[in-house]
This record gives sequence, structure tokens and C-alpha cells, in this order.
Amino acid sequence: MSAPKTKAPTVAELEPTAGSAPAPVWLFVLLGLLGFWGMLYLDEQGGGFQANVYRPHSSLAELQAMVPKSEGDVLFANGRQVYGVYCSVCHQPTGQGLANQFPPLTASDWVLADGPGRLARLVLNGVQGPMLVNGQPYNGAMPPWRDLLTDEQIASVLTYIRQNQSWGNSASAVTPAQIQAIREKTASRASAWSPAELLQIPVTE
Ligand code: HEC
Repeated sequence: MSAPKTKAPTVAELEPTAGSAPAPVWLFVLLGLLGFWGMLYLDEQGGGFQANVYRPHSSLAELQAMVPKSEGDVLFANGRQVYGVYCSVCHQPTGQGLANQFPPLTASDWVLADGPGRLARLVLNGVQGPMLVNGQPYNGAMPPWRDLLTDEQIASVLTYIRQNQSWGNSASAVTPAQIQAIREKTASRASAWSPAELLQIPVTE
């Protein structure tokens, strides 16, 4: 007896017909993973889809800190630096000076005057001689700053001492143009002012 012959499948039967093959499962898994990664990426980098785009800064607060401020703010911030380097050694970081030696800049009529006329002169050329500050007598000498500090630096430091609210001071800012004008008017002066001389000069000139 011979076994019944099974008919071998033809090549055409084995090959799937075009279009009928199911897409492989791994492709769906891959697409799913891509989509998931995409959402994570947007979550991380999308800035919450806020209208204000702040790259390359890391936050809105950081960006806002970089926006240019008013001229007064810039003068005050620079003035803090100038004060720390050139003035605080005598007038102290607190602005209160040292008794009988260096007069206070807090509540001083010299500092808070309506204009920088006397203030700019005494910083440009220095001041020497008997001086009353907040009712207390001083008789020392302050060095001149004409050749050391620019108009911007002097305007900045005077703005800083006039507007320092933690010292209780709040007077108007002083501009570089005001300093430049007074620097030119007093260009021929070489010696320090005496306080008595300064008191003759109107504060707004
Ligand atoms: C070496 C010490 C010294 C330094 C540094 C110094 N001052 Fe003075 N300053 C004095 C003395 C001393 C007087 C008082 C002079 C007098 O008695 O005639 C004075 C007076 C003043 C006054 C008028 C009086 C008052 O207290 O309001 C102002 C304003 C002032 N200085 C601002 C400044 C500024 C701004 C700087 C920095 C650019 C500065 N000083 C740096 C010693 C100093």
C-alpha cells in the first residue's frame, strides 16, 4: 500500500497577495512610543505654551530682570557700586559716618538739597573746613574726585545717596548732564571748597 500523496503547495500559494498582509505589531509599538516621547518633550520644552517666549532664558522672571530699567534705576544700581568702592570707607556702608570724624549722609541737608549745585561741587573738588551736618560740627577734609570719577559715576553715586530709602533719604536723581555742566563751570578751580563758600552757591546752579 502506498501512502496517499499530499500535494505540495505551490510558490504562488505560499506568497501573500499584495495588500493583504497585516502591518507588523512592532510598527504600532514604535509609533506609540514616538507619540509618548513627543508629549513628554513638549511638556518639558514647551513653556506651558505661554504666549511669552523667553528662550534662551530659563524663566520669565529671569527675562524680566534683563529688561532695561528707567534711567534712575540704572543710576541708583551703579551708584551702589561706586559708593562701596570710593565713599563707604569714610561715610560707612550705613551712610551714618563716624562721630566727630566723617559726617553722616543720612538726613543731611547737604545731600537732600533741591539741586546738586553744592553736592556736585564738593564731590568734584573736595571740601575742607568747619562744616555743620545735622546740627553737628565737623572740621575735616574730603579728597577731590574730579579726576577719578566720570560724570556718570558721580551722577550715580549722588543718585544713590539721595534716593537711598533704607537710609531714609528720598530726593531727586542727579543726571550725568547736570554733573557735566557743573564740572565745566568749575573747570578752573583746583582747590577744595570751604563749606562757607559752598553755602553762597544756589543749590540749583
Ligand atoms: C577719606 C574720607 C572720605 C571719603 C573717601 C569720602 N568722604 Fe565725603 N566727607 C569726608 C569728610 C571729612 C567730610 C566733611 C568735610 C569737612 O568737615 O569740611 C565729608 C563731607 C561729605 C559731604 C557733605 C556733608 C554730609 O555729610 O552730607 C558729602 C555729601 C560727602 N562727603 C559725600 C561723599 C561721597 C559721595 C563720597 C564718595 C565719592 C565721599 N564723600 C567720600 C570724608 C570722606
